[in-house]
Amino acid sequence: MKIRKLTIADYPELIRLWTRAKLPAKPKGRDSRAHIAKEMRQNPDFFIGAFDKDLMIGVVIASHDGRKGWLNRIAVGPDYRGKGVAQALTVAGEKALRKHGIKIFGLLIHEYNRASLKLAKKMGYVVHTDILYLTKRDGDHI
Ligand SMILES: CC(C)(COP(=O)(O)OP(=O)(O)OC[C@H]1O[C@@H](n2cnc3c(N)ncnc32)[C@H](O)[C@@H]1OP(=O)(O)O)[C@@H](O)C(=O)NCCC(=O)NCCS
Repeated sequence: MKIRKLTIADYPELIRLWTRAKLPAKPKGRDSRAHIAKEMRQNPDFFIGAFDKDLMIGVVIASHDGRKGWLNRIAVGPDYRGKGVAQALTVAGEKALRKHGIKIFGLLIHEYNRASLKLAKKMGYVVHTDILYLTKRDGDHI
């Protein structure tokens, strides 16, 4: 397995992987090619893929607001699960954020996503049951 930064040339594979992993994407919003390209230009270190030869088998997107960092949309292809790919991507995402001075890492995980929750706990993340996640959106497609 090889871990490397993604470029916009990887976009079609990225969408295929999220689709295979059944992660909801927003193709007209923040997951559009134009939007991902813009994010990649702003943060070229933060789109990280795992590859088996040329095949993308996993992905994570890091982000930060200067105070805290986030690991977003981690996904591993169904045929490659249970082999430590997500663990390697988590380490790579945290490393990329540390290079930007970030020392607190956050994850948003649906309560029903047991695999993701176990992964997070194994990687040292602590669940805060007293915090609610609130958002306000300028549209459903964003
Ligand atoms: C969650 C996901 C990324 C895990 O990827 P993975 O490469 O299979 O995970 P790893 O092999 O690195 O597993 C690391 C740890 O996570 C936990 N874990 C992973 N899959 C699990 C499962 N199906 N059930 C229970 N625990 C699981 C285990 O603790 C595991 O360590 P262990 O094998 O020593 O027990 C993968 O199942 C996935 O892509 N799911 C669909 C997309 C998704 O829900 N993404 C998360 C969005 S928040």
